[in-house]
Amino acid sequence: MMLKTTSEIDIVKANSSKINEVDFENLTFGNVFTDHMLVCDFKEGKWEKPVIKPYEPFLIDPSAKVFHYGQAIFEGMKAYKDENDDVWLFRPDENLDRFNKSAVRMAMPEIPEEIFIGGLKTIVDMERSWVRKGLGNTLYIRPFMIAVGSGVIAQPSSQYRFMIILSPARSYYSGEVKVIIAEHYSRAANGGIGAAKAAGNYSAQFYPQKLAQEKGFQQIIWTDDATHTKLEEAGTMNVFFRFNDTIYTAPTSERILDGVTRKSLIAIAKRDGIKVEERSVLVSELIAGAKDGSLKEIFGAGTAAVVSPIVGFQYQEDYYELPKIENSLAIQLKDKLTKVQYKLAEDTFGWTVKV
Ligand code: COI
Repeated sequence: MMLKTTSEIDIVKANSSKINEVDFENLTFGNVFTDHMLVCDFKEGKWEKPVIKPYEPFLIDPSAKVFHYGQAIFEGMKAYKDENDDVWLFRPDENLDRFNKSAVRMAMPEIPEEIFIGGLKTIVDMERSWVRKGLGNTLYIRPFMIAVGSGVIAQPSSQYRFMIILSPARSYYSGEVKVIIAEHYSRAANGGIGAAKAAGNYSAQFYPQKLAQEKGFQQIIWTDDATHTKLEEAGTMNVFFRFNDTIYTAPTSERILDGVTRKSLIAIAKRDGIKVEERSVLVSELIAGAKDGSLKEIFGAGTAAVVSPIVGFQYQEDYYELPKIENSLAIQLKDKLTKVQYKLAEDTFGWTVKV
């Protein structure tokens, strides 16, 4: 192994690469990881020097808080390669900001920008051959932080580990997305941790999602916990509804994740004269729109899922199939967003950051 030390990050390079074993045409989301990972520990009230080293398992004490109380947060980001072989990140400052908001909510230490952004750029640069050219090819980036301090007392840990791992990725969903509208389970409640990207927000969805999948649906559209009348998010994505020529999405709140894809689509829509409103959409409006034909499209938006059209939804005993439409706003917005990410269109907002 070759050890290289910069003033900011220690680097231990892997002796060999797994890259030639990877079938980049047939990737299942989140299963293959690159050769290196970034690790940075927080001890005695401060962050230590980060190290990038070969991707490998590591030991944690069985009593660590992450195992017992789920004190863990993460982010989802992507790197893209343009036609000139340059590699780009998309709005990494937004992910840093949300990561630190999640950290505060979960009583974890905030991460300094030089570790998060500096670490990100260094490791993505090292792994740039894992970022393939061509629309749809991405390197999914998973920064996360776990509580590694030992002891099962239910109090915040005093020790944490921040890590970045990278996974080449294409699409998140492999086929059509049909959803069930939640009547009983909810994703988040006011005062809870719905706005944080906390690990437990996602594992709490596994059981209702399993029930939905047993009935042939891929995801759930969550409704508000208090009344189950307002549409909130779709599984792992923010959700948009198009009625006639206007698209609607729930406003961010303590229950709704402030999605980077969500806010980017809203900005692009506003820039390009597509009518968009941030307001709660009611289940009753959705049913009425499906019946009278004013409901034209539903789509999810997230880093992993990008923009995923939803073809139909089940509510109580009834299934509503959406009409096939030309000039889909979901497809138009997806196209505009991805062209910015791959540097195929002008980045009017200054969102892309070169690695
Ligand atoms: C993302 O879209 O990056 C997410 O974090 C969702 C995750 C469950 C894949």
